[in-house]
Amino acid sequence: MTMGLDSRPIIEVSDLTVGYDHHVVLQDVAFEVRAGEVFCILGGSGCGKSTLLKHMIGLRSPMAGRILIDGTDIVTAEGDKRRALLGQIGVAYQNGALFGSMSLSENICLVLEEFTRLPRAAMETVARMKMKAVGLEGAGHLMPSELSGGMRKRAAIARALTLDPKIVFLDEPSAGLDPITAAQLDELILDLSRTLKITFVIVTHELPSIFAVADRVIVLDKERQTIIAHGRPKDLRDHSDDPWVRQFFSRRTSPAARSPMRWMPPVTRTGPTPTASTRWTPSRPGSR
Ligand SMILES: Nc1ncnc2c1ncn2[C@@H]1O[C@H](COP(=O)(O)OP(=O)(O)OP(=O)(O)O)[C@@H](O)[C@H]1O
Ligand SMILES: [Mg+2]
Repeated sequence: MTMGLDSRPIIEVSDLTVGYDHHVVLQDVAFEVRAGEVFCILGGSGCGKSTLLKHMIGLRSPMAGRILIDGTDIVTAEGDKRRALLGQIGVAYQNGALFGSMSLSENICLVLEEFTRLPRAAMETVARMKMKAVGLEGAGHLMPSELSGGMRKRAAIARALTLDPKIVFLDEPSAGLDPITAAQLDELILDLSRTLKITFVIVTHELPSIFAVADRVIVLDKERQTIIAHGRPKDLRDHSDDPWVRQFFSRRTSPAARSPMRWMPPVTRTGPTPTASTRWTPSRPGSR
């Protein structure tokens, strides 16, 4: 919720058909993502959200069509051109995909080793800045297994920010998180979007997240293998011609379902009081 609606397209997808072997998942889809917006890809399980994302980041080649990132076709770009393009995008995959045998800081340095020739000390400084940007200041020495689900998602976002990307792709960033942690992650995304002017492309199922962060969305459909709705979530909820789409956006979970009041723990505590070392509070994100 961060941009004027007239900003220029930073991603242009046209005539795109994607799938696996001879199995088509999405057929002839077209849409654009505008610079600075938070754009969400929605739809039921198996409709092709992750598949679409994998094509948008150049991980797979489409059966047909074009995907322009800032004017360059990621499908056909090769060599240095492709490398430069990949340097402009950051990705956090559906399952987090941090290297489990490396600390968070090392996970970030790995990206820098691949794309830059920075000296080690500079890499570690960048890693510290990225951790700070997602509210994980001072956590660089931790191993992924030592993190809570919410911290792991933040760490994956920190790694996605490593190369100061223009566009960040997130696959199900809040899946599996409790409502408060999920809402904190939404705040982080909005903060990064506002302060760093990053364009976000987010795959999600989570209705509260959609209403909290999305400027515009597309809704995919498995049977029809295409986009069945696009626009602002509130407009689709209130005015879509498609009853299924209206229902999708009016499910029982409303933004109010995330209201802290509904999730406050009971006032009388039975378990041990958290100590400073076990309790983790996000630091203020947004600074590089
Ligand atoms: N590597 C693969 N090889 C073959 N088929 C695949 C592969 N990955 C996904 N598919 C198929 O493509 C279709 C779309 O899968 P995809 O993972 O993109 O769905 P999704 O919308 O991300 O679902 P979810 O919400 O469950 O993550 C499904 O039918 C899936 O079985
Ligand atoms: Mg998926």
